[in-house]
This record gives sequence, structure tokens and C-alpha cells, in this order.
Amino acid sequence: MRHTVLDTFQRPLKDLRLSVTDRCNFRCRYCMPEEIFGPDYSFLAKDKILSFEEMERLTSIFVSLGVTKVRITGGEPLLRKDLPNLIQRLSAIDGVKDLAITTNGSLLKKFARELRDAGLSRVTVSLDSLNEKRFSELNGNRGNVKKVLDGIEAATEVGLKVKINMVVQRGKNDEDIVPMAKYFKEKKHILRFIEYMDVGNSNGWKMEEVATKKDILDKINQVMPLQPIEPNYVGEVATRYQYSDDHQEIGIISSVTDSFCSTCSRARVSAEGKLYTCLFATKGVDLRSLLRTEQSNEVVAKTVSDIWNHRVDRYSDERTSDRDVRKNEKVEMSHIGG
Ligand code: GTP
Ligand code: 5AD
Ligand code: SF4
Ligand code: SF4
Repeated sequence: MRHTVLDTFQRPLKDLRLSVTDRCNFRCRYCMPEEIFGPDYSFLAKDKILSFEEMERLTSIFVSLGVTKVRITGGEPLLRKDLPNLIQRLSAIDGVKDLAITTNGSLLKKFARELRDAGLSRVTVSLDSLNEKRFSELNGNRGNVKKVLDGIEAATEVGLKVKINMVVQRGKNDEDIVPMAKYFKEKKHILRFIEYMDVGNSNGWKMEEVATKKDILDKINQVMPLQPIEPNYVGEVATRYQYSDDHQEIGIISSVTDSFCSTCSRARVSAEGKLYTCLFATKGVDLRSLLRTEQSNEVVAKTVSDIWNHRVDRYSDERTSDRDVRKNEKVEMSHIGG
């Protein structure tokens, strides 16, 4: 029996974002700045991380509560050993209608075929610039554009649906908006421009550094006119547009200037098995300990649904109206994968 579980604002629990590792081979300044996530940083030990069996069980429990969409995140999910094995387990769960991963693309060429064979149908690749020098500065000199583009090609070749995410920071990579738009228009991949957010506690976010939805649309419209299109479904994170000439789609994710909390149906589980009800949450609830006791699935399901029933999160709606919320300590992006 599948339920609909509602929070205090009547928002249903529909999506699960599952982080499979807190490690990453990049050091993007807005997520894992080198000074903090350097050689001495202590990542989660293996026994602290959910096993694939535990993730499979937990996902089934979320599905029993109404989740139909599952996204695998990190850190960088492809660093988790045997990830295709997890994909196989999750894609086999009756009720998982949409399974995707968000990756930095650096290892995608190597894994694309295996992931597809395991049952994955789509992948979202983060790429913030096509310029090697700027890209390198943005990711702490770890990644190169060519490798990510090769990963995107490989994924496309094996038949995975590919979307691209570009986080835009004013003064850092806003000059890349139009080149990125042109490149992926030609390649016929959906490119989503993301407003730089104040996630975690270490990126030193300032409103002045946000390239807004309006800035982004203005820049593209000047060279390639766009028109808005209807959302695919209620609660879609990206606002959709298409180019007037070839109808290729793009998206803007405007969590800062046009937030979308009122329809937020996303739960997040960190690699160590903590449940977070918002990307900007301060605290998570430890589900790992519960999974490692002899408790039944019903007990775990009841714990999750009780938490969701009490959910009051709407951080992005409050960010600009109430500056106090920004003072709170927040979970790190690398723990819950965005
Ligand atoms: P689709 O299913 O393809 O629409 O994916 P998605 O956009 O839900 O997921 P993705 O991992 O590609 O995330 C895109 C961007 O949106 C990232 O910067 C995420 O951090 C951000 N994002 C996703 N969900 C939320 C959310 O609930 N709140 C906020 N503020 N940002 C979110
Ligand atoms: N603001 C906006 N998006 C971010 N991401 C990581 N950090 C931030 C931030 N501070 C993006 C990644 C990835 C997605 C999961 O979240 O680039 O595409
Ligand atoms: Fe790694 Fe993604 Fe964070 Fe960059 S944004 S450091 S690629 S997890
Ligand atoms: Fe959902 Fe929190 Fe993002 Fe608002 S800020 S959309 S509540 S995750």
C-alpha cells in the first residue's frame, strides 16, 4: 500500500535525494573549498556510510510513503565503489519511476555503459564553464572541460538522457553563459542555469555574486531569443524556456530570486543515513542507527512520515525576507548533494 505523506504546508513527500558519498575529486569553491576540504579534512569512515543493502531498504520504505523519483548524489557519486550495483538494486524497486544521478562528469566516460546497463535512464552533469582556465579555477584545479565533455558524449552514445547544470556566479563565470548556451543548444542537451546559493557554511556567499534569473535570461535573449514553456509537473525545480528558432529547451533554477519552496517535495538522505527535510537544514535525523537495530520497515516508515508531517522548512522563501535564518549553521552541500 502506498500512502501520500503531507507536511505542515500540505506538501507531499515525492522525491528522495540519496547521497552515496561525501567525497569528491573536485574542490569547487562554492561547495568544497580547498582551504577547508584539504588533506586534513576527515571524510566519513566506511562503517559510517550506508551500505547498498541499507540504501535499497530505505528507498523501498520511501517508495511505500509515496516517493516515485530518486536521485543519486554525492559528493561525487561515481567515486562510490560499485555504484552500478546500487543503480541495479534501485531501478528494480517497483514504484521508482524516475532514477537519475547528478555527477561532475569526470568519471562518466568510464561508467556510462555500465550505468545504462544497470537500469539508469538519465544523468545530470555539472559543468560551469567551457573555458579550461576558468573551469580549473572554479573546481580547485581538479577537473578539465575536455574530460567532462567526453563523459557527456559517452553518456549520450549509450542512450542516457543528459542534462547539464551550470552554477552561475557574477564576475566568475557569467561570461560563459552565452558560450554554454550555444554549445548545448547545438548538442541538443537541456542546459540549466542555477543561481548561486548560500548552501553550507564555507562558500562566503554574497548576494552581489548571484547572477539572477533575469541577468541570465537577458544575456541569452540578446543573442538567441527565448520563450517560456509550461512546467512538466507541479514542483519542478527549473523554470523552462525554449529557443524561438529550434525549440531546444533550457531551464533556470532560481532558488534565490524566485524561490520554489511552496511546492517542495524533496527529502534528502546523507551518505551516513541522516534525513534532512531541506537543503538548508541545520540538523538531520539519524536513520542509520534505526536501520541497524532490529526494527521493522513499518517502524522506520513511521519515523520518516512523522518527521515529514512536522516539516516546516521553506528556507529560500525566508532567505530574503528574514535575514536571521542565514545565521543558522547549515548542513554541507557535500553531505546532501544539493
Ligand atoms: P530534475 O529531476 O532533472 O529536474 O533534477 P533537479 O533539478 O531536481 O536536480 P539537480 O541535482 O540537477 O539539481 C539542480 C540544482 O537545483 C542544484 O543546484 C540543486 O542544489 C538545486 N536544487 C534541487 N532541489 C532543490 C531544492 O529543493 N531547493 C533548492 N533551494 N535547490 C534545489
Ligand atoms: N549554489 C548552487 N548550486 C550549487 N551546486 C553546488 N553548490 C551550489 C551552490 N552553492 C550544484 C552543483 C550540482 C548540483 C547538485 O548543485 O553544481 O550541479
Ligand atoms: Fe564536487 Fe559537485 Fe561539490 Fe563540485 S559541486 S566539489 S563537483 S560535489
Ligand atoms: Fe525545499 Fe528547502 Fe529548497 Fe525550499 S529551500 S525548495 S524547502 S529544499
